[in-house]
This record gives sequence, C-alpha cells and structure tokens, in this order.
Amino acid sequence: MPIRNRFAEMLPEVTGWRRHLHQTPELLYEVHETAAFVAEKLREFGVDEVTEGVGQTGVVGIIRGRGPGRAIGLRADMDALPIHEETGLDYASTVPGKMHACGHDGHTSMLLGAAKYLAETRNFDGTVVLIFQPAEEGGAGAKAMIDDGLFTRWQVDEVYGIHNAPGIPVGTIVTRPGPLQASSDEFEIVVQGKGGHAAEPHKAVDTTLVAAHIVIALHSIVSRNVDALRRVVLTVGTFKTDSNASNIIPDVARMEGTVRTLDPEYRAIMEGRIREVATHTAAAFGAEAQVIWHPGYPVTINDAEGAAHAVEAARAVANAVDDDVDPIMPSEDFSYMLEERPGAYVFLGNGDSAMCHHPKYVFDDEAMPYGMSFFAEIVERRLKAV
Ligand code: NI
Repeated sequence: MPIRNRFAEMLPEVTGWRRHLHQTPELLYEVHETAAFVAEKLREFGVDEVTEGVGQTGVVGIIRGRGPGRAIGLRADMDALPIHEETGLDYASTVPGKMHACGHDGHTSMLLGAAKYLAETRNFDGTVVLIFQPAEEGGAGAKAMIDDGLFTRWQVDEVYGIHNAPGIPVGTIVTRPGPLQASSDEFEIVVQGKGGHAAEPHKAVDTTLVAAHIVIALHSIVSRNVDALRRVVLTVGTFKTDSNASNIIPDVARMEGTVRTLDPEYRAIMEGRIREVATHTAAAFGAEAQVIWHPGYPVTINDAEGAAHAVEAARAVANAVDDDVDPIMPSEDFSYMLEERPGAYVFLGNGDSAMCHHPKYVFDDEAMPYGMSFFAEIVERRLKAV
C-alpha cells in the first residue's frame, strides 16, 4: 500500500522545515527556537489550541475532529546532541558542537506535516493531541511534560511515537508488542582504601586492587544472578584513582557504569546486587565502597493492543512491516508516556545511513512521507469518523 498522496505533495515543504531545524540544533530543555518554530507552524495550520512551555519547553497542540470521541496523542522529540557535525551537507548545523545526530529534526517535521494534514482534513471524531517534547537525550523531557500535567490537563487515551532507524530500508516500519527498548540506570562506586608507598603495600590498603576486584565481581552478577533467558547488560565505563604516579598506592578509586535491561523487575535486583557485591568485596579487603544509584529511563514497553493498532496502520502505508522486530538496548524516554497510557513506539527505516549519535549521521527526508502517513492512518483508524 502506498503513502498518502497529500504527504508526497507536502514533502518539499516538510523537507524545508527539517533542514531549517537541522541548521539550528538546540540541546535538552534549551529548545526555545525550535519550540517557537513548532508553535508558529501549528498556529499557521489552524490547530485549535497551542500551549507552549509544557515541561519547560514542550509544546502541545490540539486538533478537534468532526464530532466528540476519544483522544490520540502523537509525540515527537525536538532536541539535538552535543556532537560536532561531519556530514559536509550544505544544510549542516550552523552551531559548532551541536548537531541533530538522532533525527529529532525529522521526527518534529513529520509530526508538523501530520498536524497540517489533520487540521486540513479533520477526517476523524475525537481529538488529536500533538506532543512536541524537549530533552529526550538524557533530560527526561517526557517525564517533565507528564509532571506538568500532559495527561491531566489534556485527555489522551492512547499515545504513539516514531523513531527513525538506520540500517532498515526507507519505507519499512518495524515494532513489536512488549519490551522494545531497554531501561538505562547508572551507578557510581567510590572505593576508599588506604594510600601509601607502592613498595610497602602491607602498610596500606591497595584501593586499585580492591576496585579491580569489584569490577570483576560485578560482571558475575549478570552471568550468575540473571536468568539466562532474560536480557541484562552491565558495563563499567570509567575507572579512576587519585594516584598520579606509578609509585603511589591511591587512597580513593571511582568508577561509573550503566545497567540496561528489557525486564523491569531486574532494575531493582541489579541495584541490590551491585550494592552487595561492591560493599562486601571492599570489606573483604579492608576497604569501604559507597554505591550511588541513578535511576534512568524505564523499559519502553508497547502494550499488545497498541502494537497491534500500530502494525495495522503501518501495513496500510509502508512498503514492508516487521511486527516482531528484535528489541534494542539503547533507551528512550517515550517509555514514561507508555507507562501512563497504552500505545506503541515504532521504528521507521532510515536506509543505509551512519548510526544515530554519529557525526556523519544523515536523516533521510524520503522517510518522512511514510512517518506522516503512519500518524494520519493511526488517527483515522483509532478515531474513525461515524
Ligand atoms: Ni533519538
């Protein structure tokens, strides 16, 4: 089944918005110009209500259909990344050190395009709630919008979102019921030993050795405490001591790591085991370990019906659909919205581009008619006009 003709016609205009946003990337909650651009476009399209400043810099647009009915939320993220662009494109970022390297410029433009169409046609009963969020890249902007009343100030019965996917052909949409993306929690461990002379370790407590044992022991948690059929990843990413010379035994060592899982119950299990393993390993060597836990994004879980609705809509507009794609371990803060409302997240093929978060990543504008058609299709199916 083809994309909708209206979106094929609209592509040059939407590409213009996307490239404008691409040239002016903004980070986290500082998406002031992007949000102003979004709000201006929504007003220009005749969207019924536009509210700015939701969750600091989020924008909510309301489009009412022909009659009363349920409400569907459609979400896009607006923020860029602290990466220096290396694509050499003529519309590359004009801001040194900032780049739309995750395609959120494309997500925002696709939702604007869908909004323009839905405001023109209103071929549905009920309400479309357009959700443009800040700070997906580590700032939990979705949670900020929820905390600011996204689901209490506005009726939203189901919520859907799209992320582009390098490595999947343009025109293909993939998703799955259940866990789609992992949770992302972080930990810090501070190990306190007793510094001293490298030649006299018996008079010290060698903090480096203790911390090294902790790293090894932490890796036994996934292999020995996690059901082999479940998915959990633990990585220690930093390891530093306060020694600056080969002949000094350090007093303190610090490490930082991350835990990713597709099983929400393992978040608490991993936190508990990391605390036990770190503190008891340190104690065994006469040192002390302090564990600081930083909970991050939850597991992104598509509810079964939401995923089925998304797959039906995708089959109507995409060239190919996979309804049982493998989940991935990077995390996503749309997970907060799916904790509150049923719905689904889908991946939209971006073709053979560099991976997201790479300085040579390029969003493929040709993917946008599929994404816009998907948004329109889900609205017209779930809010069918009588
Ligand atoms: Ni992203």
